[in-house]
Amino acid sequence: MSSKEASANLRKPKGENGLKVAEFMSKVNANFYIQLQKNVEWKPGMKILEIGFGNANHIDEILSNSYNAEFMGVDYSKNMVDLVKENNPDCTFFHQDIKGLDLAGEQFDLIYTINTIYFLDDLKGAFLNLKQHLKKGGELHIGKRPKEDMEKVKHIISTGFVPYSNEEVIKAVIDTGLCISSVVSSKDSEMEQKGEKTQLHVDFIIAVHGN
Ligand SMILES: C[S@@+](CC[C@H](N)C(=O)[O-])C[C@H]1O[C@@H](n2cnc3c(N)ncnc32)[C@H](O)[C@@H]1O
Repeated sequence: MSSKEASANLRKPKGENGLKVAEFMSKVNANFYIQLQKNVEWKPGMKILEIGFGNANHIDEILSNSYNAEFMGVDYSKNMVDLVKENNPDCTFFHQDIKGLDLAGEQFDLIYTINTIYFLDDLKGAFLNLKQHLKKGGELHIGKRPKEDMEKVKHIISTGFVPYSNEEVIKAVIDTGLCISSVVSSKDSEMEQKGEKTQLHVDFIIAVHGN
């Protein structure tokens, strides 16, 4: 697969290559889902929304934290939505773009999105769409690689990625009226890339709907 094809499938998985890239992502990005579980204050019966779930391989581990939780997901890749519906009959999935998100008044305790904001040109607009689906006191967790790490993987993400800094994301969140509650950073295990050791980082920007 060319780097252009890989980039396009990271952005929006499609067809056979999309399935392969989604499988690759779920492994390479596993630490995001581990860190998310540490960052959330879990309670029973939570209503949870993931935006940009890829192949949704992490749903079971997420749901294991909240007895009787309800999970919904949104992705604009039709292939991913069809795939995950088949594998997760107890969850609800929407084929939608975050840019025009409309979930008919659904309100969530937790909304999270991991490795999706690089594909958005209007962060504030997207976060406003998420805010309208957050309960009062609900939390938004935005997972991303730090800007410096995007340089380290630029052979994979050749086109169509905006390497936002945490400051840019925080500003867009604050502009929506949500309150930043914390920014949590952690490290992935070292990996080998073209014979050299490299280490990526996982950042979460966590906001709360306080008003
Ligand atoms: C790079 S993958 C990340 C998948 C998974 N969250 C992870 O970290 O491994 C991005 C996912 O978000 C979806 N996505 C990207 N932009 C989106 C948008 N504007 N609206 C809805 N889904 C989007 C893509 O289809 C893809 O499934």
